[in-house]
Amino acid sequence: MKELKVIELFAGVGGFRLGLEGYKGKSALSNYTKKLDSPFKIVWSNQWEPSTKAQHASDVYIKQFGSENHSNVDISKVDINDIPDHDVLVGGFPCQDYSVANSLKRSGGLEGKKGVLWWEIMRIIEGKGKKAPKYLILENVDRLLKSPVKQRGRDFAVMLSSLANAGYAVEWRVINAAEYGMPQRRKRTFILAYKSSTPQYKKLKVNESYVLQDGLFANAFPVSKSPKSIFSKFSISENLVNVSDLFNKGKETLSFENGGVMKNHEVFTMKVEANYEGTFQFLKDIIVPYSQVPKEFFITDDDLPRWQYAKGSKKEERKRQDGGIYFFSEGSMAFPDSLDKPARTIITSEGGPPPSRFKHIIYQDKKYRRLTPVELEKCNMFPVNHTEGATDTRRAFFMGNALVVGVIEKLGKILNQSL
Ligand SMILES: C[S@@+](CC[C@H](N)C(=O)[O-])C[C@H]1O[C@@H](n2cnc3c(N)ncnc32)[C@H](O)[C@@H]1O
Repeated sequence: MKELKVIELFAGVGGFRLGLEGYKGKSALSNYTKKLDSPFKIVWSNQWEPSTKAQHASDVYIKQFGSENHSNVDISKVDINDIPDHDVLVGGFPCQDYSVANSLKRSGGLEGKKGVLWWEIMRIIEGKGKKAPKYLILENVDRLLKSPVKQRGRDFAVMLSSLANAGYAVEWRVINAAEYGMPQRRKRTFILAYKSSTPQYKKLKVNESYVLQDGLFANAFPVSKSPKSIFSKFSISENLVNVSDLFNKGKETLSFENGGVMKNHEVFTMKVEANYEGTFQFLKDIIVPYSQVPKEFFITDDDLPRWQYAKGSKKEERKRQDGGIYFFSEGSMAFPDSLDKPARTIITSEGGPPPSRFKHIIYQDKKYRRLTPVELEKCNMFPVNHTEGATDTRRAFFMGNALVVGVIEKLGKILNQSL
C-alpha cells in the first residue's frame, strides 16, 4: 500500500486524524476492535485558537499524538516552506464571508477578506505550485451551501471557482452521520477535491449518474434521488471578482443542493436522500451506566423547573435593553431527549451546569441528567477519554467543534480504494 502524506489544518483535537489513521491504528467504525488498514500518515498538523491565550485543543492534540510535526501558530503566519510536501490536505474550516475584491494595492490582484481561513487553504495549494496536494478532504457546516443570506450560494461558488482555477475537480455532499448508522444527527458539508493529474479527476463526470452511483460519495454513502428531485446544471465564472459580485445577486436563481459535482467550472447539483440499509445507533447504545456518572451531571429538584422552562415552548413579552417591549415565541424541545434516537447535534456550549435549550438531558434510572464528556466523545465516535485532562465544559466545547470520526474513516477508505 502506497503511503499518502497528509496535513491536517484547523486540527482541533484531531478528528480527521482519528478517521484517517485510526486510533492507535484501530478503526472507529468497529469500535476500535479492528485494525484500520490505512495508507494515510499525518506529516504535519496545525491548530491555533484565536480567542484564548491558552491553547487547550492543541494541548490535547499533543497529548494524544505527540508534539512532533505539530504547529500551534496562526495558520496565516505559517511560511509555506515550513509545511512539508503532502498528497492530501484535510481540515474543517469555518464558514465565513468569502467575498473578494480587485485590489489596487496588489496591482489588480485579488484580495479576500483578512482572517478568512478559506484563503489560507488556497495560499497553501497555490504556494506549493507543482507539488500541490492531489486530494483535499474538507468539512464545513451545511449552511456553507446557502451563504451568505443576502446572496445565497456566493461563498460556495467562490470556493468552487477558486478550486477550478487551481486545477481541481470537486464533489460534495451534505452528510447526516446518523442516517448512516452513526450515533449523532450531525449534518455537515463534506468536500472531496481531486487535482487534474489524478485518476479520480479524469473519472469525475458532471452528471446525475456520477452523483447517484459513480462518485466516491455515492459509493461510501449511498443515496437515491429525492422524490422532490430538484437538479440543475450551470457554470461559474473563472473570474472570482465576478463570482463574488454577481452570483445570485438580486434574486436567487441558482442553488447548490445537498449533492453535487464541479469540473472546469461546470456544476451539476441535485437533491439526494440517504439510502442506507445497515444498523443504527441510538443514545441508549452509547450512554454509560448510572453508577459511572459523577454527581454534578444530575439535575437537582431545584433546577428542574429552569430546565423545563428552557426546553418548553414560549409566547411572552420581553424587554429590550433600551426598554422597548417585543414579543418572543419559540417551540418546545424534546425533554428529556429520546434514548431511542441518535444524539442531536453537539454544539460548543453543550457543557456546564446552566440550563439551556440545546444541551442534552436524558432520563436514566428515574433521574434527569446531562451527558458526560465521555458520552459526548462517543457521540463523535472519538476514543473514550481522548480529551481527558481538560475541564468538562472545555471537553464539551471540543466535541461541539469536532466531527463524527466514522464519516472521515469511510471517506478515507473510499479514496484509498479509488487509487
Ligand atoms: C471546526 S474546528 C475543527 C475541529 C477538528 N476537525 C476536530 O476534529 O477537532 C476549527 C478549528 O480551527 C481552529 N482555528 C481557528 N482559527 C485558526 C487559525 N487562524 N489558525 C489555525 N487554527 C485556527 C479553531 O481553534 C478550531 O479548533
